[in-house]
Amino acid sequence: MLTFSRDYCYTSVMYIAILGRQPALGMAELERLFGDVTWFSDQSAVINVDSFSIEQLGGTLKAGRIVAELSNADWRRASMKLVQAYTQAWSGTEGKVTLGISAYGFNVSPREVQKTGIILKQKLKANGVSLRMIPNQDNELSTATSHHNKLGLSDNKVELLVVRSKNGKVIIAESNGAQNITALARRDQERPKRDAFVGMLPPKLAQIMINLTGKHSDGDRILDPFCGTGVIPQESLLLGYDAYGTDLADKMIDYTNANLQWLKDTHHVHGSWTVDQGDAMDAIWNSPIDAVACESYLGQPFSAPPSSSKLIEVRGNCNHIISQFLRNMLGQINVGTPLCVAVPAWRDGNGDFTHLPLIDQLEQLGYARVPFKNVRNSELLYYREDQIVARELLVLEKI
Ligand SMILES: C[S@@+](CC[C@H](N)C(=O)[O-])C[C@H]1O[C@@H](n2cnc3c(N)ncnc32)[C@H](O)[C@@H]1O
Repeated sequence: MLTFSRDYCYTSVMYIAILGRQPALGMAELERLFGDVTWFSDQSAVINVDSFSIEQLGGTLKAGRIVAELSNADWRRASMKLVQAYTQAWSGTEGKVTLGISAYGFNVSPREVQKTGIILKQKLKANGVSLRMIPNQDNELSTATSHHNKLGLSDNKVELLVVRSKNGKVIIAESNGAQNITALARRDQERPKRDAFVGMLPPKLAQIMINLTGKHSDGDRILDPFCGTGVIPQESLLLGYDAYGTDLADKMIDYTNANLQWLKDTHHVHGSWTVDQGDAMDAIWNSPIDAVACESYLGQPFSAPPSSSKLIEVRGNCNHIISQFLRNMLGQINVGTPLCVAVPAWRDGNGDFTHLPLIDQLEQLGYARVPFKNVRNSELLYYREDQIVARELLVLEKI
C-alpha cells in the first residue's frame, strides 16, 4: 500500500467508485447500501465506509481506496506527485509490479497518461524495481482490461484511479478490483433458458434492483412475482439471499427452475429457492417475504415509437396489471417491506417519456417512494439509446 509523503492531505478510510453508463443508478445503489455517499464527479462517488467490495454491485465499474487528495490540480501536478510518491513507496519491492493508470476528468491525451507510467518505470528501474505498464488506448483502462489483468486483486497488480472533479479537486485511489464482466456475461449468456420476448434483464441491472431494496441478512427471502426466466432469483441467490419466484406462464416456471438448477451446478450458491405459477394480480404468496424485486409486465416490445392510440392501449393495460399487483401485494407484506419494481416508460422520438399513471397514485396504493439525497426519482430509468421501452425503477416501501 502506498504511503504518501506529508504534503498530501491524508484521508480517513474512504473509497471512490467509478460508476457505470447510467451513473444515477449506480449512485442510488451505493446510497441505499452504504448511506454516507456523495458525488465526486459526474461519473464517480465517494463512499465513507471501512471496507468496500465491488463484487456485489451492479452499478459500479471500478472502485478503489482513496490514498490521497489534491486540491486544484491538473494532470501535470497529479502526475508529478504520483511519480514521486510511488518511486518512494515501491523502492525495494521484490518481484515485478504490474501497473495500470486510469485518468478520469482530465483534459489530457492517453499518451500523457502513459508517459507518467514510463517515467515511474524508469525511476523504479534505477532503484532495481521492475515495472510492467498496461498500455492505455484511452485515458482510462476499460473495465475489461482491468478485469482481465486482475488489477487491484493482489499487492503487485495495481491500478491507480486518478479522478478530477469539475472544481479541480483530484483523488488518487488504488483500485481494489473492477466489475467481473466475464462472470456477468456468463450468467447472462450461458444459462440454458433464455427468451427474447419476455426480455433480457441484464444481471447487473438485477443486482442494482435487489440492492435498491437495501441490505438484508443472509438467508432473507426476495420475492419476484414476475420472474420470467429468473434473472432476479438468480442474482438474489448469488447475493446470499433465498429466492422466491412466481409467474403467470407455466413455461417461465420451467425456465426459472432450469436456470436456477444450472446456477447451483455451476456456481457457489447456498440459498434455497421456490418457484410457483401465479397471477401477480391475485396470487397468494407464502411468508416470509423480506423484500420484493421485480421487472413487472412491460407490455409488448417496440422497435419504433408506437402510435398514440397504441400507446394509450398498452399503457392502460400495463397500468392495470401493475396497480392490481401492488394492491394484491399490500395485504401480504409487513409495513416497511422494501420493493424495487421496474415498470415501463415509453420514449418518443424526442427522448421524452410517457410514464404510467400509477406513479402519481402510489400513496393511495399504500406505498411511499424511498427518498435519495443524491439522485432524483426521475433519474432512475434504465434504457439503451435504441430502446423505446425503458425500465423505470420504483423504489418503494409499504406504508
Ligand atoms: C418483463 S418479463 C420479466 C422477465 C424477467 N425479469 C426475466 O428475468 O426473464 C415479465 C414477466 O411477467 C409475466 N407476467 C405477465 N403478466 C403477469 C401477471 N399478471 N402475473 C404474473 N406474471 C405475469 C410474463 O410471463 C413475463 O415472464
